[in-house]
Amino acid sequence: MRVRSYAKINWSLRITGKRADGYHDLETIFQLISLHDTMTFERAERMTLTCDDPSIPLDQSNLVLRAARALGNPPAKIELRKTIPAGGGLGGGSSNAATTLRVLDEMFSLGTSADRMREIALSLGSDVPFFLLGGTAYARGRGEILTAMPPLSGVPLLLVLPEERVSTVAAFGLIAKYSPPVGIPRQTLFARPELLVNDFEEPIFAKLPRLRDHKNALLEAGALWAGMSGSGSTIAGAFETAAERDAAAARIRGVRTVAAETIAAV
Ligand code: C5P
Repeated sequence: MRVRSYAKINWSLRITGKRADGYHDLETIFQLISLHDTMTFERAERMTLTCDDPSIPLDQSNLVLRAARALGNPPAKIELRKTIPAGGGLGGGSSNAATTLRVLDEMFSLGTSADRMREIALSLGSDVPFFLLGGTAYARGRGEILTAMPPLSGVPLLLVLPEERVSTVAAFGLIAKYSPPVGIPRQTLFARPELLVNDFEEPIFAKLPRLRDHKNALLEAGALWAGMSGSGSTIAGAFETAAERDAAAARIRGVRTVAAETIAAV
């Protein structure tokens, strides 16, 4: 069985407070996007995982192996072909974990309840529950209190993928003040782009000013909205048309860019 394991961006991300358990409360709007890894699952004698990217550790820190273990290690041969860059705020590892949960549960008829799936997902990482839902979703808590939003498919995106990498833990450590939540947008997402802010941008841009330049370049090239994804370092821009997006891609030089689009379902 071959499936796509999609990446995400965040249209907005507010850090609303620090919790007693060491995590932060946040308010975010997640968006599933077309950029994807490919995973194949086959019945086998025992659970194995291979990956075409040698930089991905295949030890027990691997989120695919942790997801499989949480379901009792059903005997499957899993192959992971990576396209989503690691450490870029695109949720690649979280997506792979959610895909593993969904596919193994179905393939081995495990009948895991939706509540238990969400609970396992959150135990693997704050972004994993979103990938069980997909599409566009408003999230609170650590990111697991999810409300599906109207589908938003086919919005042309340009992703700028800087060489700079940002550690999520370090990025949370840079947050010095908290934002009040603004709630679910009632109009179209782009009616008030000034509300689609990412609280990580200010402290991360202060350390990595080239990221701010990438955001400005996307806006100057005609993006309706541009912003950092998660704790970075990916900067995404959304465009009215694919032609405008492609023109922007041709203008932005000296950094890797990837065209993508929003997708509505997992
Ligand atoms: O949940 P996840 O494993 O992705 O989180 C990695 C780290 O990021 C956490 O250990 C924590 O330091 C930080 N984090 C946080 N608040 C969140 C999500 C993550 O402080 N809502």
